[in-house]
Amino acid sequence: MWTSRLLLLLGALTWSPYLAHTWTPCTDLLPLDLLSRVLPPSTAATLTQVRMVQSRGSRGFQLAAAAATSLSFPASQIFTNCETFPREFSIVVTLKIKQLAERRSEYIFSLVQEEDDRLLLGLRVSEERVNFLVGAGGRRLSFRGIRLADDHWHTLVLAVSGHYATLTIDCSLPLDLVLDQPVLSSFSTRRSRFYVGSRRRWKDRFSGLLRQLVLLPGSDATPRLCPASKPRLAELSVPEVLVTTPLLSDQQPSVFTYEAEVRVTQGGVPPCSPGGEGQLWFNTLRRNLQICDGHTWTPLLQRPQRLDYVEDYQDVLTSSETFDVEVFSIPGEGLFMAAANRDIHPGSGVFQWVDGRFQLYQNISTQEARAWKHFTLEGQVSSTSTTST
Ligand SMILES: *[C@@H]1O[C@H](CO)[C@@H](O)[C@H](O)[C@H]1NC(C)=O
Repeated sequence: MWTSRLLLLLGALTWSPYLAHTWTPCTDLLPLDLLSRVLPPSTAATLTQVRMVQSRGSRGFQLAAAAATSLSFPASQIFTNCETFPREFSIVVTLKIKQLAERRSEYIFSLVQEEDDRLLLGLRVSEERVNFLVGAGGRRLSFRGIRLADDHWHTLVLAVSGHYATLTIDCSLPLDLVLDQPVLSSFSTRRSRFYVGSRRRWKDRFSGLLRQLVLLPGSDATPRLCPASKPRLAELSVPEVLVTTPLLSDQQPSVFTYEAEVRVTQGGVPPCSPGGEGQLWFNTLRRNLQICDGHTWTPLLQRPQRLDYVEDYQDVLTSSETFDVEVFSIPGEGLFMAAANRDIHPGSGVFQWVDGRFQLYQNISTQEARAWKHFTLEGQVSSTSTTST
């Protein structure tokens, strides 16, 4: 009885005309995966335009090879009910940046007014900053002292609400910016487009790997992500292809070099320490490629060492055609060589190493001997010949 009454009450609340008319959001209030929306539909296209790269055990997209305009979609795709950008929202980004040049900044995404190319919103990273650009009024919110370009995965949650902009990196302590006026004033997304990894230009494009880019309208995504077991890779919504493609084992770094970023260092010995697994180094002196296993450099695809010449040292004359030689040593006696010879007389020969040369030590009667093998019997070395019959 209790259950049905409760259901009735819930039903009444949901259908109440009062609630339905208070506020209609312009978008779904669900996580909106912006990254999936710009990915080519088939995997074949993914390979040519957008490269899927596995790095440090996780996959992301390398976008820099694709035309900026191809990685975009009209805002109307997600602003389906009306056109106003929410004043409360959060953006979740998982990225990995190897390095950023000094004074260089790269766009993670932008929202651009198509007609006059006006920037409405933009999220940018530079060597020591994360900048959130708000077009209306040309405001720039700077989170300083943040070094994301350390070749590790990081997950950022930027939450905007009223006068507050909060940045949480890898689920650690949030950085708050408190402004004297609301971060966003209402603006229309009419005729605007989202650009992933750029600001609609070649310049300032995102050069790193992008694994997640999600807009969550209406609320702060941080409590949905944090705490996380892997805070650097905390997930709200990641493109399916990144999750469903099986990961290659990190224990076999040489296997996935065809698709992982190949960092080949030349010259002197670079450091090889934990975290540097899979790094490659071309040893110019030895002319071989070395791979770091986290501790030491190991040669990869090395050509076996070969003697490039053999000096004629001694001619050992055997009494007839020799099919096999066996070298063995007898403790206390020295080094010997047995030659398996064709003729019966005087048969095969055993030579001893004396004064740096092999000298005939003994004739052993054999017939058509083909091979010699030596063996040890209770500490004594003997040798035996096999003969064809
Ligand atoms: C082995 O046989 C050859 C040819 O018959 C002979 O010249 C030589 O002295 C023999 N050597 C030994 C150590 O028996």
